[in-house]
Amino acid sequence: MPDWLNDTVFYEIYPQSFYDSNGDGIGDIEGIIERLDYVKELGCNALWINPCFDSPFKDAGYDVRDYKKVAERYGTNEDLVRLFDTAHKRGIHVLLDLVPGHTSEEHEWFKLSSIAEHNEYSGRYIWTDSWFKGIGGHPYIGGEAQRDGTYMLNFFKCQPALNYGFKEKREPWQTEMHEPDAMATREALKDIMRFWLDKGCDGFRVDMADSLVKDDDENKSGTCEVWRNIREMLDRDYPQAALVSEWSNPWQAINGAGFHMDFYLDHWHNGYNTLLRDYESNEVDNSYFKSDADGDINRFLEDYLPRYNATKDNGYISFMTCNHDTPRPRYTLSEEELKVAYAFLFTMPGVPFLYYGDEIGLNYIKDMPSKEGGYTRTGSRTPMQWTDGVNAGFSEASSDKLYLPVQYGCGESSPEDGINGYKTDRDCSNIKVSVKQAAEDKASLYNAVKDILALRHRERDLHADGSFKVVSCDKHKAFVYQRGSIVVIVNPRDKEVRLDDAALDLIGDMKVIHSVGNAAGLDEKSGSVPGQTVIFLK
Ligand code: NOJ
Repeated sequence: MPDWLNDTVFYEIYPQSFYDSNGDGIGDIEGIIERLDYVKELGCNALWINPCFDSPFKDAGYDVRDYKKVAERYGTNEDLVRLFDTAHKRGIHVLLDLVPGHTSEEHEWFKLSSIAEHNEYSGRYIWTDSWFKGIGGHPYIGGEAQRDGTYMLNFFKCQPALNYGFKEKREPWQTEMHEPDAMATREALKDIMRFWLDKGCDGFRVDMADSLVKDDDENKSGTCEVWRNIREMLDRDYPQAALVSEWSNPWQAINGAGFHMDFYLDHWHNGYNTLLRDYESNEVDNSYFKSDADGDINRFLEDYLPRYNATKDNGYISFMTCNHDTPRPRYTLSEEELKVAYAFLFTMPGVPFLYYGDEIGLNYIKDMPSKEGGYTRTGSRTPMQWTDGVNAGFSEASSDKLYLPVQYGCGESSPEDGINGYKTDRDCSNIKVSVKQAAEDKASLYNAVKDILALRHRERDLHADGSFKVVSCDKHKAFVYQRGSIVVIVNPRDKEVRLDDAALDLIGDMKVIHSVGNAAGLDEKSGSVPGQTVIFLK
């Protein structure tokens, strides 16, 4: 286990939209380098950068054309190495995004795999042996290649599935997972990982990590075996390299496959949704942190606790504020509600992730026209808003050249402001959500995030491996949990609630060390906890 993970908070950067250093309207690596001090000051000490490799960008870079080359629009390989070095000097680790399950249809391997003549890459992807034969139960494409056969897709049409074999070979055209073609794909993946690790990256966020071996069993034992084998390479040659999986099944990802961290996502409408975005319709959010939702933390605990207890000795579950695939939480939660939610997310065990812009309450812009395969995700990918100047300080390009428009007023816009509150040809002087404005306002969400991250770093018991124990979780009372010597009282509701007896006994003569909301209103005699408050005692 890389030791540095224990006291790490990640910052996820969608490179297109973070900071444009050369005025072409799109973010770049140099832009990230220039903003490393910002990340550090906020309290994050590691980055996850979404794919920044050569790509036709039909899925925002998750369609890789060359794994070993930085996309021109972001800079060069040398720039990326400079990012690693500059980040390391500031104590920041950098994870790249590894897409192991598929490539772009424009990848050289796929072009060679598509030709009729048998070659080294014929078995790199999953092909049937006839143009009119499909791939049982999987999406596939026919009619495009010279080769006689159809090929399997892993996600969009532009993303043919790489061949790591099938768990069981049932058709003559299938490869078993230990046959040479499948093993060659696995080795090619290791080679890509080594390439970037040797240049100084600190590990990878792994895209669709559970998707490698096809028709796997219910424990995904085939795919787990591939990752175990890769983990052996890391343990031997790169023991400080970290892997976080997009899997959201820690039993499999952490215990089975050997990932150091697994994201707590909402793939299965699980406990994550119950916390931050339990949409009944677009207007109604029933999540726990919605102050008037009458939420019940037990919905989350029932999902989370078994996962946590089963995996805590082997790795970390990673909470996130949101990511490039999900609506930003500001869509339904106010800044006050978010302060409470983040105080909880950032003081749970495991290694947390903050998506750029969530710290200033950037909003999700619904119904934005799709950009680079983003579809409904596009509204969470708009540029970071740095200042209240032109283009919110994101870029010096003219506003019609921006990768995506900056937002206006974040949720407070009037219909005249354009489609759902954004438009490109306007005066940006009244942008209401920016780092500049948030930093100046003592009561901002940004400053609350900064304070909570400082607390997390300061208190050893709040680090990733610190213990976690639920003290009380009665739906009608305050939610109270213990992290070693620290007790956390959470009340997301808009009205006061009471502590139960167990919590009252426990806090005895402990002192408040930090709070969000109105800690002064805590009455230790009656056990009353004011609304929208999180209190840390020691
Ligand atoms: C998950 C990524 O997060 C998403 O953005 C992408 O579209 C798919 N995997 C396909 O790679």
